[in-house]
Amino acid sequence: MTAATVNPTDTYVRNGARADMLKQWPPPYVPGMDAAGVLDEIGPDVQTDLAIGDRVMAIVVPRGSNGAYAEQLVVPADSVVRAPRGASDAAASTLPMNGLTARQTLDLLALSPGETLAVTGAAGCYGGYVVQLAKAEGLRVIADAAEADEQLVRDLGADVVVRRGDDVAARIREVVPEGVAGLADGAVQNELVLPAVRDNGAFASVRGFSGPSERGIRIHPVWVGTYATERAKLDRLRELAEKGVITLRVAATYPPDRAGEAHRRLEAGGTRGRLVITF
Ligand SMILES: NC(=O)c1ccc[n+]([C@@H]2O[C@H](COP(=O)([O-])OP(=O)(O)OC[C@H]3O[C@@H](n4cnc5c(N)ncnc54)[C@H](OP(=O)(O)O)[C@@H]3O)[C@@H](O)[C@H]2O)c1
Repeated sequence: MTAATVNPTDTYVRNGARADMLKQWPPPYVPGMDAAGVLDEIGPDVQTDLAIGDRVMAIVVPRGSNGAYAEQLVVPADSVVRAPRGASDAAASTLPMNGLTARQTLDLLALSPGETLAVTGAAGCYGGYVVQLAKAEGLRVIADAAEADEQLVRDLGADVVVRRGDDVAARIREVVPEGVAGLADGAVQNELVLPAVRDNGAFASVRGFSGPSERGIRIHPVWVGTYATERAKLDRLRELAEKGVITLRVAATYPPDRAGEAHRRLEAGGTRGRLVITF
């Protein structure tokens, strides 16, 4: 592979926050959940429309040493599709993991066209894909943003942008007094943003928040690992990227020996677009 993104989850692998989960596998623990590059081998019994030499992108579920921060990677055939035409490997690598997480979020929330979805952390990689996929499916989107990100989030397609912060639920309620039908919580604000959701609405949590809920709101924990072999959905994301429906955003690229720098930069917050390690 020639490109692997740096995601928040990689920093937890590195800093020990995932130690309990990882210890079931022998070290070393290699992070990285998505990658792009060139397909150089196909397993003997694999049915695929891909050919050796194709430019591809893949979602990777690291179990011990098989993370995406590597020049060579073996993944299930259903985790790999062609890279979007016209995208660099770095740009292509930003799509699989967060694109599928956004896809899973919308599938779980199961809103109907015309219903309103709120998105926190909308300027982020996951939040941005949620906004763009939701708009493509006819939802009305209210997204949060810091003042400096307001134009970015509007450009992603949000219908209404409210100021981010601990009181964002109140600001969403000012726009939609009855509360939103669904909320995708990319900023991981959990119980702080639950009040933005209408009675019997739906809430997607991306870091394991599962309640307590209130007013009949269903909380859906999102775990992209369960979508890692949803090949048709990954290929649909490729198509949407080729059509310009979703935007691939690279903040900066780093050589592997500067991966630590990329981690520090991500952890500092404020990165817009993804940091990518290129090989
Ligand atoms: N469960 C899964 O399968 C899964 C899959 C993918 C991602 N995730 C999780 O989803 C979350 C988003 O990922 P990402 O890659 O999109 O991260 P990201 O690119 O860093 O985006 C997060 C966004 O939320 C903002 N934010 C952070 N704290 C906030 C707060 N208290 N109030 C308002 N905004 C806040 C960030 O702003 P600043 O940069 O200014 O801090 C940033 O714009 C991460 O926690 C990640 O671990 C989970």
